Amino acid sequence: MANTTQSAKDRVVIFDTTLRDGEQCPGATMTLDEKLAVAELLDGMGVDIIEAGFPIASNGDFEAVSEIARRTKRATVAGLARAIPADIARAGEAVRHAERGRIHTFVSTSAIHLAHQMRKTQDEVIEIILKTVTQARDLVEDVEWSAMDATRTDIDYLCRCVEAAIRSGATTINLPDTVGYATPQEYGAMFRSVRERVPNADKAIFSVHCHNDLGLAVANSLAGLEGGARQIECTVNGIGERAGNAALEEIVMAIRTRADVMPYDTGIDTTMLTRASKLVSHAANFPVQYNKAIVGRNAFAHESGIHQDGMLKHSETYEIMTPASVGLAKTSLVMGKHSGRAAFKSKLAELGISLSDNQFQDVFERFKDLADRKKHVYDEDIEALVDEKLATAHD
Ligand code: KIV
Ligand code: ZN
Repeated sequence: MANTTQSAKDRVVIFDTTLRDGEQCPGATMTLDEKLAVAELLDGMGVDIIEAGFPIASNGDFEAVSEIARRTKRATVAGLARAIPADIARAGEAVRHAERGRIHTFVSTSAIHLAHQMRKTQDEVIEIILKTVTQARDLVEDVEWSAMDATRTDIDYLCRCVEAAIRSGATTINLPDTVGYATPQEYGAMFRSVRERVPNADKAIFSVHCHNDLGLAVANSLAGLEGGARQIECTVNGIGERAGNAALEEIVMAIRTRADVMPYDTGIDTTMLTRASKLVSHAANFPVQYNKAIVGRNAFAHESGIHQDGMLKHSETYEIMTPASVGLAKTSLVMGKHSGRAAFKSKLAELGISLSDNQFQDVFERFKDLADRKKHVYDEDIEALVDEKLATAHD
């Protein structure tokens, strides 16, 4: 009999590292209270894993990870550790009271890192992986192992490392584009190749972790899904080292908006994205660029006359998602020199102003003159133009 049931979408695990990799962005240090507020919001929003910090880095980081681990009821809480026994022990202690705790341990695998940063041979690093992943697995059930600089690592050696990590008990394998060097095609192919070649690959979930040095972090993350990864590591507003990490809101909305070509589910309540962006921007003291996708202040703003006219006729003419779907009250039609009659009429109606045709024509011309001189035309400016017109009409 033919199978008529539609296959369910694949669940993609959202691993948020705003409080760890995001906080590594210069100037973004957050206080304990700010971190607790961010973690609570992420948990409420449906994030699956919250990487709460790097417990060995400082007492403050240890305290933040432990406190978030104690308080978080739904999400898994992860603590980062280098492949060093003391780091792993500290991370294990920090997540000890979590409902669900994870140790995330990493080691560099690329030739350039082995030669200049680690000063170790490939075989020595394999030994380190075997020992440290085993140590982590003795402390918690849920262990993630990351191959730092995976995208610049020789693929044969990368496969050996992944095989060793899974054999030692890693349940998630993360292959980061640490320096934001990969292209989407290469990144997807790397996952495909590792998953095909490593004999025990099916025992772990594969994860993407992309930096944005070439502006490709989100595209690379989505390409990793095509290569078989099912966990995405990302940060709110894309904050992170250098040019940042893949932005959570962009990934989640790309998957939601283009479900026709990306049949995945993320479990994120997207109506909380705007709130999350504002909270993180405030806590990390890091402004969101105006034209940032999804959460920038221009993301749902239209100025050109043609676009405004289209939007007034049907919102899908120039918007591929609704403001409500990301938790924003409404689209804004920004009044400026590109605005046309239709948008100006709609703005007057919004301000509760009604004018005769002649009055409208005159006020519209004055508005255009003003918009030529002024960068921003505020509601108050428009009200003043109308008042001026009505006052002269009564003289
Ligand atoms: O970018 C990176 O490689 C990292 C690891 C610690 C996962 O942040
Ligand atoms: Zn990173």
